[in-house]
Formats: sequence, C-alpha cells, structure tokens
Amino acid sequence: VRTSGKPFFDGKGNFLGYRGVSTDITATIRADQAEQELRRAQSELTHVTRVTTLGELTTSIAHEINQPLAAIISNADACLGWMGREAPNLSAARSSVEWIIEDAIRASEVIRRIRALAKKGEIEMVPLDINEVVKDVIALVTRELVSHRVTLRTELRAGLPTILGDRIQLQQVIINLVMNGIEAMEAVTDRTRELLIQSSKDDVGHIHLAVTDCGVGIAEKDADRVLDPFFTTKSSGLGMGLSICRSIVGAHGGRLSMVHKSGPGATFQVALPPHKEAVA
Ligand SMILES: Nc1ncnc2c1ncn2[C@@H]1O[C@H](COP(=O)(O)OP(=O)(O)OP(=O)(O)O)[C@@H](O)[C@H]1O
Ligand SMILES: [Mg+2]
Repeated sequence: VRTSGKPFFDGKGNFLGYRGVSTDITATIRADQAEQELRRAQSELTHVTRVTTLGELTTSIAHEINQPLAAIISNADACLGWMGREAPNLSAARSSVEWIIEDAIRASEVIRRIRALAKKGEIEMVPLDINEVVKDVIALVTRELVSHRVTLRTELRAGLPTILGDRIQLQQVIINLVMNGIEAMEAVTDRTRELLIQSSKDDVGHIHLAVTDCGVGIAEKDADRVLDPFFTTKSSGLGMGLSICRSIVGAHGGRLSMVHKSGPGATFQVALPPHKEAVA
C-alpha cells in the first residue's frame, strides 16, 4: 500500500492515521496481473479453438492439397510422354510443366494459409481489406462447402476503406460464422443450401461483413444467448465459436450481432470501424 499524505494526531497527540491519497498498490498490481493472465488465457483459448477448427477441416484441407498433387503427377506423366516421342513435342511438354507449376503454387498456397492459421503468433494489427480476408477464408473452406453441398454466394463491395486488424483473428471470426452456417443447413433438404457473404459500408463509414445462411434459424428464446460462451444446441458443440468471435470483434473496436430477419436461416454481422488513416 502506498500512502502519500500527512500523519494526523488527535488533541492528545495520539496518532490517528494518515490523511491524503492512499492507494492500494498491491491491489492495482494484482488487478494488472489478473488482467494479463486473463488476456493470456483468452489468447490461448482462441488459439486452441482455432486449431480445433483446423482439425475439423482436416479432411477438406487434405483434399485441397491432394487435388493439385494428383494433377501434378498426371501432368508430369504427360510431359514425359511428350518428350519421349520420336519427335518430342516441346510446346506440349512446356504446357504440362506450366500446369505443374500452377498446381504446385496452389498447393503451397493452401499450406501457407493453414500454417498462418495454426501459428501462435503475436497479434498484429495492420491495415486490411476485409474482402481479402474473406478470400483467404474462402480458399480454406471451399471443400467444406462442397462436401456439404452448400453453394457460396459473395457480394463483396469493391473499394471499401481498410480496417485495422489482425488478419488471422479476423479469418477465425469468418471461419466460425461460415462453419455455423454450414452446420445450420445440415438439416436442409428441401431447398438449395446457400451461404451468402456480403461486405458493405454503412452511413457512418463502418465496414460491415455479413454471413447469411438459410438453415434452421434461431429460436426467439435463444436469440439473447447465442453469443454467450458455452451456449450450444449441438451435441458436439462447445458453444465457444460465437463468443470468441464476439471478443475478437470487440478487441477490434467493432461489434458482432445477430440480425433479425424473416424467413429461414440466420444472419450474423460484424461491424468494424475504418482504419483512421484510410479515412483521412
Ligand atoms: N447460423 C446459425 N443458425 C442457427 N443457429 C446458430 C447459427 N449460429 C449459431 N447458432 C446457434 O448458436 C449456438 C452457439 O454457436 P457457437 O458457434 O457459439 O457454438 P457451437 O457452434 O454450438 O459450438 P462451437 O464451439 O463448435 O462453435 C449454436 O449451438 C446454435 O444453436
Ligand atoms: Mg460454432
């Protein structure tokens, strides 16, 4: 305890105490430490759930890499064929090699994205184009969408102001929303399973990202709780997805909300402030 002030005595000279500013430093230090601990725990948790999500995506990701690898093998085969002819067809061989390079780049792109997502890095706030973040995510979830027979529609507004954010964390937010959308449409058999990702800007210049599905929707009574930690209606769900999204978006000075809408399905919207320099 740090006390700054003067000692006070009563008429007979008995010490009454100190008057002045008395700060309980230990309490402040403890609060600081607790906050740091909390932050560390939170970032551990985000990392763990991110890796869990990756785990769930493993089959899709493996496919995503296997496809270009298979193409590489058949193109290499074809290339050998073109060169092995009596009169080697060099231009055909060249095309095969060019396709090999393209596919190899595609495979390494996928790996690069996964590594970035699995990495436990420092949070890095940089100016970002939200549409680019969406595109990163699409590259990762395409297979998952296909295997669940979900059609993806995007309405990405061009020329949006940049936002200041951590690319990986924002990817995680979008992945969580997309996964929820896919899961919500699992039961849909009578209509096209469509997932819509939109980016836009509102009147006050905030950047909006909305993920809409046409799945089971959210019951009125659950509407207030879906964003809460550990609220889940799924047998294998943790109920962490949306609460992590909310804390990440909050840390970016933005807001995650569920948009009430008529008709089947649900819309979740992320609103983020524009990066100051982008506005100036
Ligand atoms: N797109 C959606 N459509 C309908 N309900 C949804 C949708 N997104 C979330 N919910 C509801 O909100 C609950 C909480 O979602 P949240 O992502 O936080 O956890 P979860 O998906 O159940 O588990 P996980 O921790 O694996 O993400 C879900 O269990 C579901 O009931
Ligand atoms: Mg979820």
